[in-house]
Amino acid sequence: MKFLVHTYGCQMNVRDSEAVEALMLAAGHEKAANEDEAEVVIVNSCTVRQKAEEKAVGKAGNLIAAKKITGLMGCAVKRMGADVFKRLPKLDFAVAPRAFGLIPRILADGRFPRLELGDDVAPESLAAHVEGGWQAFVTVLLGCDNRCSYCIVPDVRGHEYSRPAKEVIAEVAALARRGVKEVCLLGQSVLRYGIRNAAWEAERSSAVSTREAFPRLLRALAEIDGIERIRFTSAHPSGCTDELIQVYQDCPKVCRHLHLPVQSGSDRILKEMGRRYTRADYLAAVRRLRAFDPEFAVTTDVIVGYPGETADDFEATRSLMEEAGFDNAFVFKYSPRPGTRAAQLPDDVPTAEKERRDQVLLADQESRGQRRNDALVGTVREVLAEGPSKRNPARWSGRDGGNRIVVWDRADGARAPAPGERVHLRITAAHPQILIGEPT
Ligand code: 5AD
Ligand code: SF4
Repeated sequence: MKFLVHTYGCQMNVRDSEAVEALMLAAGHEKAANEDEAEVVIVNSCTVRQKAEEKAVGKAGNLIAAKKITGLMGCAVKRMGADVFKRLPKLDFAVAPRAFGLIPRILADGRFPRLELGDDVAPESLAAHVEGGWQAFVTVLLGCDNRCSYCIVPDVRGHEYSRPAKEVIAEVAALARRGVKEVCLLGQSVLRYGIRNAAWEAERSSAVSTREAFPRLLRALAEIDGIERIRFTSAHPSGCTDELIQVYQDCPKVCRHLHLPVQSGSDRILKEMGRRYTRADYLAAVRRLRAFDPEFAVTTDVIVGYPGETADDFEATRSLMEEAGFDNAFVFKYSPRPGTRAAQLPDDVPTAEKERRDQVLLADQESRGQRRNDALVGTVREVLAEGPSKRNPARWSGRDGGNRIVVWDRADGARAPAPGERVHLRITAAHPQILIGEPT
């Protein structure tokens, strides 16, 4: 059958969708060129905020109306459980985030409706990749046990589970043989890799300490020929250990960028959220990274309008963002999620005030991004080319190790860079989110 997978949400979902595509292709299905042509459409849903869930459910509703065989997978399915069929009575199948490996079999059976909410994941399905491309996501840590008060992820993605190191290493080696140059390791709190279960079970006798499990994985992956860059996301300040910084020192393939969600700059709110760090702890982690390398890129997520967030709490977030000097920031308006601790609190910051705080932080980040990027003018960045720039297809676009977008004009008569090709660019101008360079 001709199929399409439509994805909402974070990188975890992008990765799961890719695995589903690979499994569907392996089962003999064919990717449709567009939605009209598709017989089956699978919508991979997010539920981190109410709006995200509504988008995915709305999309599935439209596909059902268009008479496609429609499946819903991902986080919203687990949150709704059997109620998903109340929202979408004609949905054909629904599978929870860890159950996507069942999709080809569900289609082969053809017995609809079908609901799979299990948390068992088949190792083969985790390792399935679509061929081609030079970048790949690799899931190393599933689920999350942190239980931050606002977050639905632990309920929908299950308990934390670290994949065995030998599985991850074999997967990355296989990707390298297929031409992948850059991998991004994924986990909700990826620096906790190996803490909950023995990820290095083959070497249990040599006692890999929990602080060493993730750094050791990075070192092992950095030895794989063909892999040029290793990224990972998301991080927690408690994971910014000396062992991790030593990896940055020793392994140039490991990119000097951390996505380090802070959520708030107010100690009171951080405590209520259950984030397990203070403002001072967080800033100390950022300082350690920047002391090691002043160009170390740090990006973040922030929530505005958490229950009870006062004007002072908000100002604390503003000042933390300035002190941390973030290279980029994603700001989210608080959205109560059913079943979370925070959902029991009154959602008392008015929508208009959430919007205002959002705009203030975005404006701050614009000028901060400009300042951070201005400081890079004149430096030479090592960039892996991605392709024509989206905004201006006459230019090329790529990213440096800090995940900064760099665009450049093709020199007269020069050939187009191959995707993933390494180029050195001298930065000639800067915008808040983009650097302009020229080949050196
Ligand atoms: N409301 C708003 N934003 C949220 N996030 C997680 N849960 C919520 C919520 N209930 C944000 C956090 C997280 C990002 C992926 O989404 O900032 O880091
Ligand atoms: Fe990703 Fe969270 Fe959305 Fe799930 S709910 S797709 S884990 S952002």
